[in-house]
Amino acid sequence: MRPRVLVTRRLPEPALERLADGCEVEVNPADRPMSRDELRDRVRGAAGLLSLLTDRVDAPLMDDAGPGLKVVANYAVGFDNIDVAAATARGIAVTNTPDVLTETTADLAWALMLDSSRRVSEGDRLVRRGGFSGWAPMFMTGHDVFAATLGLYGFGRIGRAVAARAAGFSMRVIYHDETRADPATEEKLAARFVSFDGLLRESDIISIHCPLTPATRHRFALGEFSAMKRTARIVNTARGPIIKEDDLAEALRRGLIAGAGLDVYEAEPAVSPGLAALDSVVLAPHLGSATVATREAMAMIAASSVLEALAGRRPAACVNPGVFDGGTGR
Ligand code: DGY
Repeated sequence: MRPRVLVTRRLPEPALERLADGCEVEVNPADRPMSRDELRDRVRGAAGLLSLLTDRVDAPLMDDAGPGLKVVANYAVGFDNIDVAAATARGIAVTNTPDVLTETTADLAWALMLDSSRRVSEGDRLVRRGGFSGWAPMFMTGHDVFAATLGLYGFGRIGRAVAARAAGFSMRVIYHDETRADPATEEKLAARFVSFDGLLRESDIISIHCPLTPATRHRFALGEFSAMKRTARIVNTARGPIIKEDDLAEALRRGLIAGAGLDVYEAEPAVSPGLAALDSVVLAPHLGSATVATREAMAMIAASSVLEALAGRRPAACVNPGVFDGGTGR
């Protein structure tokens, strides 16, 4: 009998076709996330789960699936929605979709940096409501991106891709990460390691590129915004809860910082009303990896990972490779 794989939301067709070569594929028929009950019900007896970042894959769900579940392939590079320790304890491989979305997400971080600095979306709203009455010397002045100091919080693949683009804007690049990059990488990207306090103090724009973990949850709250320049902007394309949203709204209202560009939210898809009321924040609907080519590439990686894991081989994008030690997982 072919193994059954549950896909929690319709994905680009070529990936579903690839999956169907080796498995019985069941795709969520509705164009919305599966409810918790639907997920628990449909995952029962599945050998593979191809999940989205909006699906909470925890120990009870894995137990609902039963002992046949061998792989959870997340259609995202971030996998904070999955209890990896619980998966590992059950011999379930967990995979993500790194690399293929790096440049696409870096592009979006730049879009938000430019927009929040030069007030593009705010200006678009103003023009549409008939508020443009002509050029004026002090009208909608923003802050330069050119020659500014870019501060990266998190210096992994995406953070580095954002840094690589900064040379074209003659920016000074500083970064903070729990591990310092090797000297060759720092030299190539002209990036200087600084303390977290230094990052807050020196940056004109902070762009967040770390995973969501207990240590990074609410890493940016009122105290951090108070320590930043009053002209600074903050951009988040990583995970919403890294910023305490109510505190960000307060910091913007009080002028502690000048602007923000957000692609992700604390209680996604909800956006705190305090933020939505402010013109100084650009709000994007989690578009980081949203290009046709990248979403197709992510789907292909996830499909291949499922097939590899079900064949007892360790997928290249496995985040808990230890489950394959000694052979086939469980
Ligand atoms: C990811 O892959 O983690 C992104 O947030 C998806 O856009």
